[in-house]
Amino acid sequence: MMVKSTSFLPLFFMAICGSVASVSFQNPVIFNDLADIDIFRVKDTFYYSASSMHFSPGAPILESQDLVNWKYLGHSVPSLDFNSPAYDLADGMRAYARGVWASTLRFRQSNKLWYWIGCVDFNATYIYTSSGVTGPWEQKTVLDGTCLYDCGLLIDDDDSMYVTHGSTVLSLTQLTPDGLDMEKTQIVYNSTVGYVEGSRMYKRNGSYYIITVQPVNGQYVLKSDNGPWGPYDFGVILNNTSPPQGLKGGDTPHQGALVDTPNGQWYYMAFVDVNGDSTGRVPVLSSLNWDDNGWPVLTLDEGNTWPQSLPYPVDSGAKTINSDSSLQGKDTFATGKLGSQWEWNHNPDMKRVTITPGEVRLSTATVSKVDDIYQARNTLTHRTLGPASQATILLDYTNMADGDRAGLALFRDSSAWIGIRKDGDTSTLVMRSNMTMNSTDSWSTIAYGTDVASTKLHQTGHTRNIFLRVAGDFSASGTRSAQFSYSTDGKHFTVLGQNFTMANDWQFFQAYRFAVFNYATKALGGSVGLKEFSLYPV
Ligand SMILES: *[C@@H]1O[C@H](CO)[C@@H](O)[C@H](O)[C@H]1NC(C)=O
Ligand SMILES: *[C@@H]1O[C@H](CO)[C@@H](O)[C@H](O)[C@H]1NC(C)=O
Ligand SMILES: *[C@@H]1O[C@H](CO)[C@@H](O)[C@H](O)[C@H]1NC(C)=O
Ligand SMILES: *[C@@H]1O[C@H](CO)[C@@H](O)[C@H](O)[C@H]1NC(C)=O
Ligand SMILES: *[C@@H]1O[C@H](CO)[C@@H](O)[C@H](O)[C@H]1NC(C)=O
Ligand SMILES: *[C@@H]1O[C@H](CO)[C@@H](O)[C@H](O)[C@H]1NC(C)=O
Ligand SMILES: *[C@@H]1O[C@H](CO)[C@@H](O)[C@H](O)[C@H]1NC(C)=O
Repeated sequence: MMVKSTSFLPLFFMAICGSVASVSFQNPVIFNDLADIDIFRVKDTFYYSASSMHFSPGAPILESQDLVNWKYLGHSVPSLDFNSPAYDLADGMRAYARGVWASTLRFRQSNKLWYWIGCVDFNATYIYTSSGVTGPWEQKTVLDGTCLYDCGLLIDDDDSMYVTHGSTVLSLTQLTPDGLDMEKTQIVYNSTVGYVEGSRMYKRNGSYYIITVQPVNGQYVLKSDNGPWGPYDFGVILNNTSPPQGLKGGDTPHQGALVDTPNGQWYYMAFVDVNGDSTGRVPVLSSLNWDDNGWPVLTLDEGNTWPQSLPYPVDSGAKTINSDSSLQGKDTFATGKLGSQWEWNHNPDMKRVTITPGEVRLSTATVSKVDDIYQARNTLTHRTLGPASQATILLDYTNMADGDRAGLALFRDSSAWIGIRKDGDTSTLVMRSNMTMNSTDSWSTIAYGTDVASTKLHQTGHTRNIFLRVAGDFSASGTRSAQFSYSTDGKHFTVLGQNFTMANDWQFFQAYRFAVFNYATKALGGSVGLKEFSLYPV
């Protein structure tokens, strides 16, 4: 009864005021690829941790006051130091689709430490801690030979730390009091419904809950009234639920996290896989109530559909979503530091990067004789913004050397770019398409790409700058089509080449990204300056 009145009042209020937009939010709450959601609250602030696979730094952290308006805050994994040269793109090795996934983040009140835990490469679990959420984060320990697969951390009221993990057979591991080693592990659930994974653990009103996902159509809940070790009873949070209207064409919202607001209302944030991952796994929010027996009841629309719109969980005064400067707008690198929205493709070689107020200077860090962007270090990436957006860079290419390639890519396992090919003294602007990796062969490169179109650049003078632009349709029901263009004045853009259709296989796990690259095919020594990056919805 309580349940009904709390969720009906705001709707009624909205109806009589006729100003739905001012009191409700729309799904998805962020149209960015931020999969394997872990969310929790510390006092009035919500934190969101997500997967980032081979991008570095890893495990991005976002912050919000209302669960709807988020901004990039930092990373739990400053560098992918995972015991393999592949993470540095060294020795001809690569770590695409490996690295950071389905990990967990929490703040521990007793010692004021933030803990991040993740299994990497199926053979080791890494624990990072920090005394502040923005760092400095430190790799504290490696549980060698142990994979706490798809883990979720609960810090109990008595300060005990429990990690739920596993697939189909779900186990619980109690950590030692310092949270850095394992004390006890026990199976808590043998699935009777088939394959499950991606668990998270919560405590509410004395009961323990483990939520787990059957990819991709079922989100289940296990409940124990007899302590963390069970026995657990089984329940269903959602089953074959359709995505919200705005993500029609996406799949069932799943693998999310529960969180409560300071006034005790609960929410569930899940992700919807859009276009088979090519444009990301984006977060959608719904409210959740509890029945008289302590089981969660998710708020859904008629027809088993995820709500497109709900009242704001917390009135933070914010009215538009995705508006923080870490999500969209113009970045001129004025602070002389990269914002937390930026991640490199694999670990960068920071000896070849200089960031000063107003410029990110990328010196070539790799000589790839075969012209392979996938083996090139120091490609700087930014998540695309759905449903449709365009990214524009201003690039100073004055100091490119013979054989260098630099520009703006739409980057995934099948990529395209617009950029400059420097051969001898000649700078040619090209649109290159179809750089492709093999998903069934450890992401070896199948195709280095083809120059679809080119035009000579006749800029002379001391400094040579060019604007490069990629516009794409990332919507769930959209075309996955992207267009590449350039400009010398930043106002009039000329399309180069033909539209590129984004691939939509799921195996890569990460969505397309805008990527600024500069690599050599002959010798190191050249550089480019990234002067600005702007990203706007179109
Ligand atoms: C785990 O496996 C990866 C990939 O096979 C390997 O490179 C790495 O060295 C291993 N890590 C540990 C800690 O054994
Ligand atoms: C799960 O199955 C294993 C192996 O059959 C058994 O030892 C264990 O007791 C079971 N645990 C639960 C919680 O069902
Ligand atoms: C907490 O659980 C008890 C039964 O153990 C129940 O009577 C009470 O209503 C529950 N409280 C809430 C807030 O659900
Ligand atoms: C989910 O729904 C399907 C089809 O309606 C049904 O067959 C299945 O048993 C349900 N799963 C669970 C765990 O309830
Ligand atoms: C890119 O690959 C697709 C599919 O293999 C092919 O149809 C297309 O012609 C290629 N485009 C170029 C420019 O090579
Ligand atoms: C991709 O790798 C698989 C496994 O090694 C191989 O059979 C297949 O031919 C490769 N595909 C291409 C297009 O090279
Ligand atoms: C090319 O892509 C752009 C950006 O998504 C889109 O606006 C345009 O309609 C596409 N053009 C064609 C011919 O597909």
